Amino acid sequence: MSLLDIKHVDITYHVGKKDVYAVQDANMSIEPQDALGIVGESGSGKSTLAMGMLRLLSERICTIDGEVIFDGKDLLKLSDEELRKIRWTEISVVFQKSMNALSPVHRVGKQMEDVYRIHRPNASKEEIRSRVIEMLKVVNLPSRVYTSFPHELSGGMMQRVSIALSLLFNPKLLVLDEATTALDVVTQGQILKEIMALQEQFRLTRVMITHDVSVVASTCNKIAVMYAGRMLETGYVKDVLVHPKHPYTQGLLKSFPSFNGEKEELRGIPGALPDLSVKPTGCVFAPRCPYATEQCRTSLPTLQTVGNQWQAACHQLGGVSNGGN
Ligand SMILES: Nc1ncnc2c1ncn2[C@@H]1O[C@H](COP(=O)(O)OP(=O)(O)O)[C@@H](O)[C@H]1O
Ligand SMILES: [Mg+2]
Repeated sequence: MSLLDIKHVDITYHVGKKDVYAVQDANMSIEPQDALGIVGESGSGKSTLAMGMLRLLSERICTIDGEVIFDGKDLLKLSDEELRKIRWTEISVVFQKSMNALSPVHRVGKQMEDVYRIHRPNASKEEIRSRVIEMLKVVNLPSRVYTSFPHELSGGMMQRVSIALSLLFNPKLLVLDEATTALDVVTQGQILKEIMALQEQFRLTRVMITHDVSVVASTCNKIAVMYAGRMLETGYVKDVLVHPKHPYTQGLLKSFPSFNGEKEELRGIPGALPDLSVKPTGCVFAPRCPYATEQCRTSLPTLQTVGNQWQAACHQLGGVSNGGN
């Protein structure tokens, strides 16, 4: 049985009189202890999907439709109260700048204890303290971090504190949104390795959001490739990244963004993301696709099964050669 089922999720931002269709018809299912990488260029809707499915986006700025079934419950239908009980304890999130949420004037250990106390109001002082110290150790931080202030820590240490915080209650699902993107290559590599070890140790299911396909290749077993708000190809990493079916995935693999930051333009794919306030009639990728035909420009391709739990949304699946070379 899957732990998380994303079914026909649409997320639309309302900006003045304009609607921005940031996520359209997202579908994905994740089994326990899977590691799913959601990959795509900046602006493709990855964070919107993650925040939206966890109900972290204000209803004042956007509308969400569809179903997000977590452990048998539709997160989009839970009351705020029920949702509060699940966040942190069953599902937790680490963002690129999670540490910005910490106060600069309080010590790290104390702030972690405060978080613990909110969800375990009856825990003893000693229990809280030992859990926090244990979690700092789990993410390979020296014990002095407990009494440090946030500004005394390096970027890598700060992200480790964020990860320690996210694991305080042994959640089932951990979502990491560009959690290592801002770090130098060596630190990023170390933390990615640690995250994978933690996944084993805590029997975590993980969703990893990144613009960097090499991060997915090295840390995930499943992948969803997003472009302009749509999932264009989903499946096992060993299939999708080895024999990509969708021309966009093929282009993404050719361009391999560097570790140093987001690329504005993919080398393999000339052009830029379309305006998301205009709903295209055809395939969202058609304007940049070397194989696009009239059919691609006028009718929307839906995800077709192309293998074991492997789907791609492309009209030209039969005619597109592997790697597009
Ligand atoms: N608060 C917001 N209001 C309006 N549009 C937004 C908002 N946040 C993001 N967007 C738009 O939604 C699209 C997807 O953004 P995002 O989910 O951040 O992409 P990614 O995480 O893949 O870089 C972008 O076009 C972005 O400009
Ligand atoms: Mg993002």
